[in-house]
Amino acid sequence: MKEIYLRDYVKPAFSIESVNLTFELEEEQTDVTNVMKFTKLDETQKHLRLDAMDLELLKLYINDLEIDESRYIIENESLTVLNVPASFTLKVVNRIYPHKNSELEGLYKSGSIFCTQNEPEGFRRITPYLDRPDVMSVFTTTVVANREKYPVLLSNGNKAQCHDSFDERHGVTWVDPHKKPSYLFALVAGDLGSISDEYTTASGERIELNIYCDLGNESKCYHAMKSLKEAMLWDEEKYGREYDLEIYNIVAVDSFNMGAMENKGLNIFNSAYVLADTDTASDANYMGIQSVIAHEYFHNWTGNRITCRDWFQLTLKEGLTVFRDQCFSADLNSSEVQRIEDVKGLRERQFVEDASPTAHPIQPKSYISMNNFYTSTVYEKGAEVIRMIHTLLGEENYRKATDIYFEEFDGQAVTTDDFLWAMSEASGLDLSAFKNWYHQSGTPKLKVDENFEKGVYTLNLTQIVPTTVDGKTQNPFYYPLKIALLDDQGKEILHETLIVSKMQEEFTYGGLKAKPTLSINRDFSAPIVVEQEGVDFSFLMKHDKNSFIKYEAAQAFGVETLESIMNGEDINPAFIESFGHLLDLDLDLSYKALLLELPSVSTLMQRQEKVDFEPIYEAKEKLSIALASTYKEKLLKLYTAHHEVHAAINSISMGKRSLKNRVLRILSALETEEIALLTQTQYKSSKSMSDRVIALDILENIHSNFSQVALSDFYNKYKDETLVMNKYFSILAASNRVGTIDRVQALQNDPVYDEKVPNLVRSLIGVFARNYKHFHSKDGHGYAFVADKIITIDKINPQMASGLAGAFKIYSRINETNKTLIEKELKRVISTQDLSKNTFEIISKILK
Ligand code: PHE
Ligand code: ZN
Repeated sequence: MKEIYLRDYVKPAFSIESVNLTFELEEEQTDVTNVMKFTKLDETQKHLRLDAMDLELLKLYINDLEIDESRYIIENESLTVLNVPASFTLKVVNRIYPHKNSELEGLYKSGSIFCTQNEPEGFRRITPYLDRPDVMSVFTTTVVANREKYPVLLSNGNKAQCHDSFDERHGVTWVDPHKKPSYLFALVAGDLGSISDEYTTASGERIELNIYCDLGNESKCYHAMKSLKEAMLWDEEKYGREYDLEIYNIVAVDSFNMGAMENKGLNIFNSAYVLADTDTASDANYMGIQSVIAHEYFHNWTGNRITCRDWFQLTLKEGLTVFRDQCFSADLNSSEVQRIEDVKGLRERQFVEDASPTAHPIQPKSYISMNNFYTSTVYEKGAEVIRMIHTLLGEENYRKATDIYFEEFDGQAVTTDDFLWAMSEASGLDLSAFKNWYHQSGTPKLKVDENFEKGVYTLNLTQIVPTTVDGKTQNPFYYPLKIALLDDQGKEILHETLIVSKMQEEFTYGGLKAKPTLSINRDFSAPIVVEQEGVDFSFLMKHDKNSFIKYEAAQAFGVETLESIMNGEDINPAFIESFGHLLDLDLDLSYKALLLELPSVSTLMQRQEKVDFEPIYEAKEKLSIALASTYKEKLLKLYTAHHEVHAAINSISMGKRSLKNRVLRILSALETEEIALLTQTQYKSSKSMSDRVIALDILENIHSNFSQVALSDFYNKYKDETLVMNKYFSILAASNRVGTIDRVQALQNDPVYDEKVPNLVRSLIGVFARNYKHFHSKDGHGYAFVADKIITIDKINPQMASGLAGAFKIYSRINETNKTLIEKELKRVISTQDLSKNTFEIISKILK
């Protein structure tokens, strides 16, 4: 399979001044007429090679003259027009079959709605084009379809004209005045419901805002609308960026491979990130919608107006936009909780990826399928890299620097080096050593040694730089390290931001009365792993003012305690004691809920030499029971104090729910009648979806007769709400009960389940593949089942299949028994006929 390399980048040989598209949408086929004005940029190029995938060419014209087969060549993925002049108009008429498109790339149908997904390389499945992000052009699009079936016809930009004269068909022409790459093209046609609003920009422009959805779901769009307006205001205040078209449209569709897509003026969303009401959406759903709506909106400047030169630059727009949406969420909600959630996500997904055979720098060097590089490394680690730049520059210089970036590169397709240039230009900072973050993979470690002598405290730091996937050594990293020194009362003696850049660093602090306690990597100022022996975690938990370090210390103490249990030791009473201390603290409730969470299976797994899950969850169970029985009364009190039946969506109620549900989960370790009853009552009486699904999940995982009753009740209530059914499938797929795999297999025949809908596949099969107990069961059935699914789904939707294959990334690090089992299954998958390049790339890397 062909591998694409960054080092092979060459500039486009042609530019396209304008694109004029007409879509004739029919049930069985769509004809696309595409008129493009080309100019040759490289005189040595005689022919024009366009990207074209699975297209049926009907007609081809140069400057209005039809040309025949002697003038062009159609190959696998291209259309080459021979001997073209210096500038010319090319008109292509081609036919596509959206109703047969199950990959969900290009033009496809989600239910009865026509929609598109073109990032990164979907546009070539619509019409022949220079389908690369550094070719930017102005698009005019006319969509024609049956009036009754498709009353709503949308594309990018502003609405220019309606064509009502074609009897049962009608059409609309859209003009997007901003130059854009083809991956931002979008089209939607359907019988859609909508809600509308407006927003007035800082400079007084009135923008029409619309959110479209399936008829009947309109009332679920208000939270998304509110979030959009919050995002528009935030970007004006924080970055001085205003919206630049008359209309902003968002469309929610059920079949979508990812979360959402930032198409210019016409965002297309997975309905999971738009639709919410108190009866059907959990608190996490509300937060997710706010952040994804903002993320796509922020792309208008970081991604659309300034885009990527090539796909190796993906983190240019994604890392930056994730950083922007994280800051937005931190500003609108609890910033301490947001930061912890960001780091938790990074560690659970990105650190695992960084320690696997698919590890890659945030700017990869090569790919087989670009679809495989929409990773937590490019996104979340990319955001950490921008955050470090923000820390290094400081708020004021960072704003200056982004102003320069927008000023200098507006309307262009640029590289991460261009971005870094703007950052240096504004601050005078030399970022050349910092660039390693873009080109090196793996998670750096930092070994900490302390020394105290005669009033002088010495901090010795040693970088442990990971090797690449092929075992090559890499260079030290450059990063800001926020630290503080605390006295024996826990008071801050000093705090500062150190710069770590060499393999070895030494910092000394004199004039101290006693050895201070170190508080290191505050706020998680760098995405690294700190290794330090003999830390007094309970001291930091009690005294550190830094909300992140308090959390970090609680987690680290939990890890230490769990690992000693795994080594056969008794539970450390000091941990139990400091947990009790946390219960009494008067803190933000969501933050407190995080402090009370035990380290995840993933956290412990990442520290194992040879991964084995059983000892991990046995230790977790043991510790949970000890905590729950020691603090039963206190926990019950906390539960009652914070339990409310109503379901308000505001930070106070959400905080109460997250604390109360954390407490309920801890108590559930006891598996007593009393706790089962409490959970059952919560399931029955609460008006909030979070309360309901958490109760359902707990009931599923303890011995309770009510669990089956609750499950059928839930099913009957929500079987017509696919988004809610995702939660149902997830709970069952994540279950620790005996027989989970049989139930998961049976659920594939449930009338609600549909293998063509990515959300459903993710919540049933994807969640099962993260069920440590059953996926990794030592009879090998879990692996065999997921391997089978990869093979079948690969034929339908390769992107979904390669996503599932990611569950096997643990291969090289797992114990021998499981390793042998995985190997057998992966070899079976990779020898399948016609495997997609997506799935091939992931599995071949894992096996290597
Ligand atoms: N660019 C989208 C985002 O991050 C993600 C995406 C990529 C969606 C590829 C679909 C396909 O917002
Ligand atoms: Zn994005």
